[in-house]
Amino acid sequence: MRTEMTGPARFDTIGTDRLLMRRWVGSDREPFAALNGDPETMRFFPGPLGQAASDALADRIESLFEKLGYGLWALEVQETGEFIGFTGLNPMPAGVPGAGGVEIGWRLARHAWHHGYATEAARAALGVAFDGVGLSEIWSMTAVLNEPSIAVMRRLGTDRGRQVRSPGGAGRPSACGRTWPTAGRDPSRHDPLTLREEVLGRHHVRGQFLVGRTRRRAR
Ligand SMILES: CC(C)(COP(=O)(O)OP(=O)(O)OC[C@H]1O[C@@H](n2cnc3c(N)ncnc32)[C@H](O)[C@@H]1OP(=O)(O)O)[C@@H](O)C(=O)NCCC(=O)NCCS
Repeated sequence: MRTEMTGPARFDTIGTDRLLMRRWVGSDREPFAALNGDPETMRFFPGPLGQAASDALADRIESLFEKLGYGLWALEVQETGEFIGFTGLNPMPAGVPGAGGVEIGWRLARHAWHHGYATEAARAALGVAFDGVGLSEIWSMTAVLNEPSIAVMRRLGTDRGRQVRSPGGAGRPSACGRTWPTAGRDPSRHDPLTLREEVLGRHHVRGQFLVGRTRRRAR
């Protein structure tokens, strides 16, 4: 019997009306570090990232693309070719509602806010999640105070958010997000890495996350 080694389906590039969602390239590093170094953009995270930490994050994102076939796509404005940040799919961390599932997330440079780019990219990412990968629901997690992020969730049709305490009880971070379970997928492929550890640290301080859920039919 011959066993064929096949990798995951690949979703390297997505075109939207105004954006190219793509794998990361070397020239993204500098503008990515600039947005990660902006205290306003990183207001709901433990703190701004320096160049090395920003590069390491880009490396982790790229390695997840290799493993999963999808990820946090680099966003490029089609008209200008400018890199403006990321939007996409990422494994949920362990220890929060939705652990083992997939979340959707976004981080854009400040000058790219208020153009509808995050929502446009997120809708395309949900298309990959539901129609390409075959997931039926997706989680999202954000600080309860992060109104712009919660507004994106609302636009996507996320169900009513739940404010939760972490399983660790008092003094531990709460979590906020929404789920789309990983139906038909091997949970072991979900690296609990994750980018959200930094978020959990911040919410440990703030103490409150919000959890909601967007289902396939909600779009
Ligand atoms: C979260 C974040 C991506 C939201 O960005 P955003 O610009 O508010 O969201 P969108 O890209 O969907 O844009 C929506 C806005 O664009 C406006 N807009 C302008 N032109 C538009 C168009 N052609 N189509 C749609 N919306 C448009 C909308 O009216 C809306 O306006 P508002 O911000 O005044 O309400 C952004 O605040 C961010 O990167 N924050 C820092 C990182 C972060 O906290 N990430 C989340 C961590 S969990």
